[in-house]
Amino acid sequence: MPSHVAVIMDGNGRWAKKRFLPRVAGHVKGVELVREMVRACLERGIQYLTLFAFSSENWRRPQEEVSLLMQLFVKALEQEVEKLDRNGVRLRVVGDLSRFEPRLQALIREADATTQDNTRLDLTIAANYGGRWDIMQAMNRLLANRAPGKEVIEEGDLDPYLSMNYAPEPDLFIRTGGEQRISNFLLWQLAYTELYFTDTLWPDFDTAEFDKAIASYQQRERRFGRTSEQVTGQANA
Ligand code: IPE
Ligand code: IPE
Ligand code: MG
Repeated sequence: MPSHVAVIMDGNGRWAKKRFLPRVAGHVKGVELVREMVRACLERGIQYLTLFAFSSENWRRPQEEVSLLMQLFVKALEQEVEKLDRNGVRLRVVGDLSRFEPRLQALIREADATTQDNTRLDLTIAANYGGRWDIMQAMNRLLANRAPGKEVIEEGDLDPYLSMNYAPEPDLFIRTGGEQRISNFLLWQLAYTELYFTDTLWPDFDTAEFDKAIASYQQRERRFGRTSEQVTGQANA
């Protein structure tokens, strides 16, 4: 089993369009699939689930859609946190939260506080998140805290400042909806992640689809630069 799964939940709008429904109907259905995904991770013993819910570029959408997405986010936090807490889920939201309205920011802080002692599943929602933003905020904080005289910055120095410093790098990345791009999701952290793209739209991505992604992951050989023989421990290693 992968320990950390990161997902770009894409295709809500097209799912709705196919049914002659407003785009927001796709987002509403999408929230249901989040519930199913969380349940699946709990059942499979997956420790970290990270979901891209709103990118720093999604503000460019029509104002009405942005506002409906924000309302959905508020509603989901109001309705789901208690149940998540009961199920041992630790919920965090990463991204530049300062742009959200105060009510939403308060709900995010509450969810964080309520669930902080839970350990069964680490659920992270990336909201107003951008991979470049993450690297830059980490770098700026690192520079501000740098010990006097430390001139050279090394890779590992950045880790404590990245917004997902509590999690290992994702093992499996899933993007639904048919596009094969990263769209400014976890750029630093995806360096050695196994990538899985599917045409299935997010509102159709059920547990069976998730198991297909896991099965694909389980067939991969993760070499991290080594040879296959080294990884499998055969002769010539
Ligand atoms: C993903 O679905 C959800 C968000 C970006 C909030 P989309 O809304 O991007 O759906 P498509 O890509 O238009 O189908
Ligand atoms: C990426 O989806 C962001 C989320 C799923 C939250 P988009 O639908 O916004 O991505 P692009 O713009 O098509 O790359
Ligand atoms: Mg999209």
